[in-house]
Amino acid sequence: MKFRPRLNKNALLFGGAAAWGLLLISCVMVNRTVLQAPLIPGATFVGNKACTECHAEHVEGFADATHANVALGDAKLGSTGCEACHGPGSLHVKSGGTKATIINAGAKPETCFQCHLDKRGEFSLANSHAVLAGKVSCNDCHDPHRGNAISGSGAALEAQNETCTKCHTAQKGPFIFGHNAMKEGCVACHSPHGSVNQKMLVARDANLCLRCHLQTTDRNGVILVSGSDHRTRLQNGTCWIAGCHEAVHGSNSSKSLRY
Ligand code: HEC
Ligand code: HEC
Ligand code: HEC
Ligand code: HEC
Ligand code: HEC
Ligand code: HEC
Ligand code: HEC
Repeated sequence: MKFRPRLNKNALLFGGAAAWGLLLISCVMVNRTVLQAPLIPGATFVGNKACTECHAEHVEGFADATHANVALGDAKLGSTGCEACHGPGSLHVKSGGTKATIINAGAKPETCFQCHLDKRGEFSLANSHAVLAGKVSCNDCHDPHRGNAISGSGAALEAQNETCTKCHTAQKGPFIFGHNAMKEGCVACHSPHGSVNQKMLVARDANLCLRCHLQTTDRNGVILVSGSDHRTRLQNGTCWIAGCHEAVHGSNSSKSLRY
């Protein structure tokens, strides 16, 4: 279960209360998400409104974005949600908008790690997306500026799969014999950030499949999977080895998911 901290724009007052705020947060957050904006030496917070003038497009969609709810707040400035990721903006605004005065979170997963401490560990696992090497970025899969940061969570799981299939076209299908597991999303079988298992799988052996496909035993002690005798088969190891169900994402030649 994910713990969802209940925070609103006014939960934190920046300035004199910042130290208290951070203390408070460290007690409130049990999912290891802390609130800490990146530093820009000499700059102070100016609030989202100050960004509107030049970045109307980003501000417009932001109201219903996940991170709008977790914005660092200041009663005088209004929400400082933009600056939670981009750093305090006073110098940037004063300069009329130079790159050197603001942080571009896109190129730097460090910005996200400021608050999502535990994610660095996930991307350090043996099998993971190369975020630390800069080949894949957090925002390839998460939109920081609008809507739910996890695309497709809730109603439209397809949108979440699209997050993956825009790069992994081979898994997109359509297949003549589709695997209904795909309707549960790629994350039914893969840890999207990283995993100790090969191919970032959530389980490394038959258990990956047996979570959905009931394993039963008949009167004679014969192990059945989906009603068919799997005694010797399960001893072969994974279910997706050659000759079994290697076309696990879907097949164009066999209902049993083979190539
Ligand atoms: C006076 C206009 C102006 C205001 C106000 C302004 N910006 Fe900018 N901003 C710009 C311009 C122009 C660029 C493009 C700079 C470039 O490409 O050299 C930019 C670029 C950026 C970038 C990209 C930097 C990069 O390295 O690519 C970010 C992020 C950004 N602004 C965030 C903000 C935030 C957050 C605010 C509000 C606190 C803000 N801006 C307010 C004009 C502005
Ligand atoms: C959760 C972190 C986060 C928040 C909050 C956030 N941004 Fe960004 N911003 C990013 C990331 C990541 C990128 C890089 C996007 C990319 O490269 O596609 C980015 C890029 C930008 C850019 C550069 C142009 C672009 O789209 O690549 C601007 C300008 C910008 N943001 C403005 C804003 C403004 C204004 C707000 C508040 C309304 C805001 N951001 C809130 C993370 C954030
Ligand atoms: C200032 C702190 C802060 C920064 C910086 C930050 N986040 Fe977050 N983020 C949070 C908090 C707090 C939540 C929890 C929001 C909730 O559950 O309502 C959150 C939620 C999320 C979620 C959704 C979690 C869920 O369970 O729905 C994603 C995805 C996410 N952040 C990705 C990012 C990415 C990517 C970046 C960098 C571009 C980033 N965050 C930068 C504080 C931050
Ligand atoms: C390859 C795509 C991908 C990349 C890259 C990625 N994420 Fe995610 N992330 C996801 C998906 C998909 C989920 C939803 C997982 C689920 O539903 O089980 C998720 C969930 C999350 C969550 C909420 C659930 C949790 O595990 O706490 C946070 C926070 C998050 N990501 C932050 C980040 C940050 C920070 C980065 C970059 C350092 C990042 N993600 C990079 C795909 C990605
Ligand atoms: C921005 C492009 C991009 C997105 C989006 C993306 N990936 Fe990847 N993915 C990669 C790259 C690059 C690799 C490593 C290259 C390789 O070995 O093929 C990779 C590797 C993988 C691997 C391991 C392949 C192996 O050989 O070990 C799996 C599994 C995977 N991704 C699943 C996903 C899932 C699930 C999602 C959606 C949550 C996703 N990817 C989103 C680019 C992406
Ligand atoms: C039913 C479980 C399951 C689901 C759902 C699933 N995968 Fe996989 N995926 C696997 C298994 C098992 C492997 C390992 C296959 C192998 O090693 O031959 C794999 C391998 C991969 C690879 C590596 C391919 C290669 O040739 O090395 C990628 C990329 C990938 N999956 C992406 C995705 C994407 C994208 C989705 C969602 C659209 C998805 N998977 C959904 C089980 C699944
Ligand atoms: C998220 C749940 C889920 C997971 C995990 C899952 N499956 Fe499935 N699978 C289904 C559903 C639902 C069906 C369609 C209904 C059925 O036939 O049981 C299906 C159908 C199949 C079929 C076709 C059966 C037939 O004769 O029509 C095969 C073969 C199969 N799965 C193999 C696998 C393998 C191998 C794995 C592990 C890599 C796996 N499944 C993991 C849900 C799942």
